[in-house]
Amino acid sequence: MKKVLVAYFSLTGNTEKMAQFIAEGVRISGQQAVIKRISDIKTIDDLNNYDGYIFGSPTYHRDITETVKTFLFFARKGNLAGKLAGAFGSYTHSGDAPSIVFETMEYVYKMVPFKLSSFRLKDDVIDTTEGMRACHDYGRVFGEEIEK
Ligand SMILES: Cc1cc2nc3c(=O)[nH]c(=O)nc-3n(C[C@H](O)[C@H](O)[C@H](O)COP(=O)(O)O)c2cc1C
Repeated sequence: MKKVLVAYFSLTGNTEKMAQFIAEGVRISGQQAVIKRISDIKTIDDLNNYDGYIFGSPTYHRDITETVKTFLFFARKGNLAGKLAGAFGSYTHSGDAPSIVFETMEYVYKMVPFKLSSFRLKDDVIDTTEGMRACHDYGRVFGEEIEK
C-alpha cells in the first residue's frame, strides 16, 4: 500500500472539505491517505516519507496566500523529487492557486506531475454530489497512478 499526504490550507473550510473528499478517493483506490493542515507541518520529517503528495490551496486575490507561500519555500527542503504530485483548491471566479502550486511541485521540486494536472472546484458545488464525486475521482485516479 502506498502512502499519500494531502496537505492543505483553508480559511473558510471549502478547500478543507475538498481535502477530505480527495483523501477518501485515495482510500477508495486502496492506498493510504494522511490529511494535514500545512500549519501542522513543522519539520521536514512531517513532510518526508510519503509516496505521493497532493497540496491544497484556495485562491485569494488571484494568488496563493502568504501561509501557502511560506509552506512552499519550506517544502523545497523536502525529499520530494520524483514523487507523484497533485494540487487542488476551491475558488469562486478565477481559481489560480492550484495551478500555481502544481507548477511549483513540477518545476521547482522536480516532482512527477499527476496526469489529471491540478484540480479546482467552484465553492458552490463542493457540497453537491457532483462536487464530492469530482474530488473522489481526483483522489482515486491519483491512487491508481501511484500504484503503477
Ligand atoms: C477577499 C477574498 C478574495 C478572493 N479572491 C478570489 C480570487 O481572486 N479568485 C477566486 O477564484 N476566488 C477568490 N475568492 C474566493 C475564494 O477562493 C473561495 O471563497 C474559496 O472557496 C475559499 O476557500 P477556503 O474556504 O478553503 O478558504 C476570494 C475570497 C475572498 C474572501
